[in-house]
Amino acid sequence: MRIVKPLNFNWYFAKKMDNLTIDDMTLVNIPHSNIETTLTHVNELDYQFESVYKKKLDVNKAEDKRYFIEFDGVLHKASLSVNDLFVGEHLGGYTRFKFEITHQLKEGENWITVDVDSRESLNIPPFGKTIDYLTYGGIYREVRLIETPQAYIEDVRIHTKNLLTDPTIDIEVVTTGGKQTKAILLDQQHVLVEATANIGSRIRLQYPVTLWDIDQPKLYDIEIWLDDDDHMTINTGFKEAEFRKDGFYLNGKNVKINGLNRHQIYPHVGYAMPKSAQVLDAKILKETVNTVRTSHYPQSHHFINACDALGLLVFMEAPGWQFIGDDLWKENYKFQVKCMVREFRHHPSIILWGVRVNESADDHNLYDQTNQIARLLDDRPTGGVRCFSFSEELEDVYTYNDFIHSGHNVLLKPKDEVFKQDRPYVITEFNGHMFPTKTFDHAAKRLEHALRYANIMNAYMGDELITGAFGWQYIDYNTHKEFGAPDRVCYHGVYDMFRLPKQAAHVYRSQISDIPYMAVLNGMDIGDYEESFVDHMYVASNCDMIEVYQNERFIGEFYPDKVTFPHLKHPLFVINDFYGDAYQMDLGISKQASQSYIKMAHDVAKRGGLDKLTKEDYIDRKSLNIGWQMYGKYVANWGSGAFTYTLKGHYKDQIIERKIGPYQTYTYDIQSDQTDLYIEDTYDVQRITIQAIDNLGQEKPYCFDGFSIETNGSIELIGPSQIALIGGRYAFWIKSKEKGKGTVHIKNYKIDRTLTFQVY
Ligand code: GAL
Repeated sequence: MRIVKPLNFNWYFAKKMDNLTIDDMTLVNIPHSNIETTLTHVNELDYQFESVYKKKLDVNKAEDKRYFIEFDGVLHKASLSVNDLFVGEHLGGYTRFKFEITHQLKEGENWITVDVDSRESLNIPPFGKTIDYLTYGGIYREVRLIETPQAYIEDVRIHTKNLLTDPTIDIEVVTTGGKQTKAILLDQQHVLVEATANIGSRIRLQYPVTLWDIDQPKLYDIEIWLDDDDHMTINTGFKEAEFRKDGFYLNGKNVKINGLNRHQIYPHVGYAMPKSAQVLDAKILKETVNTVRTSHYPQSHHFINACDALGLLVFMEAPGWQFIGDDLWKENYKFQVKCMVREFRHHPSIILWGVRVNESADDHNLYDQTNQIARLLDDRPTGGVRCFSFSEELEDVYTYNDFIHSGHNVLLKPKDEVFKQDRPYVITEFNGHMFPTKTFDHAAKRLEHALRYANIMNAYMGDELITGAFGWQYIDYNTHKEFGAPDRVCYHGVYDMFRLPKQAAHVYRSQISDIPYMAVLNGMDIGDYEESFVDHMYVASNCDMIEVYQNERFIGEFYPDKVTFPHLKHPLFVINDFYGDAYQMDLGISKQASQSYIKMAHDVAKRGGLDKLTKEDYIDRKSLNIGWQMYGKYVANWGSGAFTYTLKGHYKDQIIERKIGPYQTYTYDIQSDQTDLYIEDTYDVQRITIQAIDNLGQEKPYCFDGFSIETNGSIELIGPSQIALIGGRYAFWIKSKEKGKGTVHIKNYKIDRTLTFQVY
């Protein structure tokens, strides 16, 4: 029988040095990052070194068994020895690999040593030139020992033809011997059907499975047996997915791809985060978009499993960034493509393989071969992300990064200027570096950031020849010195590093939320705007109508702006009338008659006020003065009109309310995603968020209060214990140390809060 034993606890770790002994090493658990980084200002030289990981392993070695060590990911080159006997090495930080150690392993005590090289000078992708993200170091994904019989199951591939019409599931099992294979299809441990086949033949299961879909991500287990000796279970789902020239079809239904790119980067630990953090990302993304691109490398199985379970589509990409190296480098790239497809092909969420180094030049031979590799190993289509027009069309889907929009020009490049239009077209990146935006940028900038996403989304949503698009990027991320702000952060996220939403994320979320959603994208605090001028509020909402009140006064009913955003499922609301019937009440003139006064006053306000006008500007000084007074009274002005607005959103038969305006007091909203943590295959983590929030429920983007954090008991803190809010918010992760109760104390001059956790 196959036995799988996680090997994640109690590794000795040290930077490589001469005469290194165990006494020089520290005990660590996997996932592990070879350095703990600062939040921002991370220096890419800090994690680039060679290190050594050692682990003692007690084994009851059975003579008729075989033993393997499997690594889910080591950054970036791993050399394995067991009891000082060299076993093998793996190049490439983003894919799983396995070594047989039967001959090196002995009964009783063994020592496993992994020499890890995390230098970016390695001749493998993504290295060779500059890279716009950090690549980190260490054994950052899980490790396990696998014991199998002599003849074992080496690989499995599942084939279907067209599940819409034919319920046949063929299973190809590669073994190292044995006689007969068996497959059992299970639904929640309930056997549905089983079949056997002789070695070398495919097993055929006939069963009308429920197809995996975005809204109903049905998963099954398939147990594979080799004789009665070896077995493995594959959790999978079945779907019919097809990219056609007129769109992507899932189980026969057209689905517009609305996606984001995801980097797997986290504060302080780089890529090294266990299951809960990976699952949290998938959950947040599922509430934001319907598809994710794993830019620019294969990502954690925990993340992809969560995509399977939640119904989030995935475009998975082989590692690389712009650069193509020499022949050896290319061999490694092909190897990575092969590893990726073999490792991830049973995941139903994956709809496309990226088999071209992101934004690299054409290379006929290389990409002809990577396409062939992917097609040989799996039936799913290929894509290859480029940033220039009319690149060689070797892939099934033309995938292109369209960064043409810079604010006041076209939103997307015309397709006839990009490719021959003979195949499905997906835009794989937009926005990003064109408008980096911080959570602590001023209101107009944060609004503009959100509007750029809304405008581009509106453009591709309305274009039948665009299968869909992925915004750049899910989160802000640490990067190399050649990119990013002075703190080496690319502020390209629609969420920040803490996975807390910027205004742009609200645009996405409001499109797919199935509960009432209403996020005001900009407030009316004049001091946040140039010339103190603001005369509109944008709202991202799925409501049918919003009633707006200025203090207690009803201004009007507002509806989704279908003229500006005709192709959004839920167009943004633009609240741009703050007068309501004020002209009528104050001056006795009709709404129609007031329009010219309003326009005049707003034009003047935009220019900085009355004293910026010359005589020639406004002949009708009397009406201008009337308009100007009304503007000061009802919109805003230097010293008057700080109103509280109440927005009542009508969503079906429900009403939700938001208040916008001057606050009296503020405090902090402190939340943990869950209060239970676990110690299972490895340690667990949970995120705790702190958000400054005022008595009206508004976020405080310019609150930078400091806190001290202390953990006790069964948990420990990831990152520093003295922190300050960034853009009014902060998040930190705690990790489980041992079973039992743990507490987190969060303190500053205003609060002293204790959160309790339980580790199981
Ligand atoms: C693209 C690149 C991404 C990221 C992005 C920033 O060119 O593919 O990795 O750098 O620009 O907008």
